Amino acid sequence: MRPSLSAVLTGMVALAALLVTAPTAHAADPPLRDLAAAKNKAIGTAVTGSKLTGTYGEITAREFNWLTPGNAMKWGSVEPTRGTFDWTEADRIVDFAEAHGQDVRGHTLVWHSQNPNWLTNGTWTPAQLSQLMTDHIALEVGRYKGRLAAWDVVNEPFDEDGTYRETLWYDGLGADYIAQALTAARAADPAAKLYINDYNVEGVNAKSTALYNLVRDLKARGVPIDGVGLQAHLILGQLPSTLQQNIQRFADLGLDVAITELDIRMQLPATAAKLAQQRTEYDAVVKACVAVTRCTGVTVWGFTDSDSWIPDTFPGEGAATPYDENYVPKPAYYGIATGLGGTGTTPPPTPNGCAASYSVANQWNSGFTGNVTIRCDAGSSLSSWRVTWTFGAGQQVGQVWNASCAQTGAAVSCSNASWNGSVPSGGSATFGFNGTWSGSNPVPTVTLG
Ligand code: G3I
Repeated sequence: MRPSLSAVLTGMVALAALLVTAPTAHAADPPLRDLAAAKNKAIGTAVTGSKLTGTYGEITAREFNWLTPGNAMKWGSVEPTRGTFDWTEADRIVDFAEAHGQDVRGHTLVWHSQNPNWLTNGTWTPAQLSQLMTDHIALEVGRYKGRLAAWDVVNEPFDEDGTYRETLWYDGLGADYIAQALTAARAADPAAKLYINDYNVEGVNAKSTALYNLVRDLKARGVPIDGVGLQAHLILGQLPSTLQQNIQRFADLGLDVAITELDIRMQLPATAAKLAQQRTEYDAVVKACVAVTRCTGVTVWGFTDSDSWIPDTFPGEGAATPYDENYVPKPAYYGIATGLGGTGTTPPPTPNGCAASYSVANQWNSGFTGNVTIRCDAGSSLSSWRVTWTFGAGQQVGQVWNASCAQTGAAVSCSNASWNGSVPSGGSATFGFNGTWSGSNPVPTVTLG
């Protein structure tokens, strides 16, 4: 018997519903820079020039389309002795960026910190100070003319209450130093976008309002200013609720906005719950930028926890960046990916196909639990594994599960158990241990051998 027309139609509707609701396989995310390019945004990282080889260089080239020298272009770096210049690291970063199709954000010309001693300790008349500043800008901006996309011309001009920070520049030249610096930078490279950059200006508050008033007035006076940089050195759990609104109000002045130094620090140890929350917050920051047309993009202040300023400046805090010390992407990496419109489900390739990562899952008085994960990309696999590391602060491995470990002095070597030596393509194996620590419990660099 032939089926009736209505039965055929019912069947087709059911089939269509099935096709629509059937779970679809997640497509692999491309690198972050491709996700960002599709949104017409920059995804950048601060870099250390001397590290731009090996895995650090590979990740920098693959994942980012903007670079900011973390220290290499600061006055103290380029002219440590008056009249003696060292451009080695700055040049290396600009050359690297050009070789990999990346833009560079120059950082930074006029700041109160990381200036050479000869400048800080000198006694200068206002005229001399002004000359020193504008000569420095002409020289450094001129050196890279046509090669840099943007400059953080003035860095951190405000105190928290929105008054001008008392610095070498403000004390000597008054607030006009800002206009003088911008004018000198425009003259030295008319194509570079000129920014004022500051921290704790991500939400609407007294400091960001002072910055807002300043750039509005500079624009009204015809002083060259193209954008504001919101550094975004954030603390886990304290993401400003007014971030997007704040970005939008600067954009409405006809200015570009960049998130220039994003990191989200936490009290160590970094637990799975904290890392999951950090992922959500990275995603939210990136989405706030993506939502505003004039927000040009997001730069992270170092992409790996091994190259982050946080542990030195805030003892006991860290894990602020998207990759761990062993270059394994953390949940935060996937937060950036989803913020840029990716699925956030597909790990990026590990450097050699398989990699190990170490984390402190829990820590108490004198004890802690460590976890190690061995992960392989699609196309790579292991039939056995050994993970080694050196404990730098006297930690001792105690009870171990899912591996067998031996410790000799500071050197630890762990091999697979009989049941988990095989790590399939795209799969992982995990083992853990309880250990002891005192004083500090830094995360070691682990090697998969
Ligand atoms: O290069 C020397 C090295 O020779 C020496 O052995 C070592 C000993 O401490 O110090 C090294 O210099 C350090 C330098 O970073 C390079 O690693 C300085 O001590 C250290 O103070 C400096 O910190 C930098 C910090 O600015 C200074 O304020 C951070 O790396 C850098 O990430 C940080 O970046 C700033 C931005 O420029 C502006 N916004 C805030 C942000 C974080 O502070």
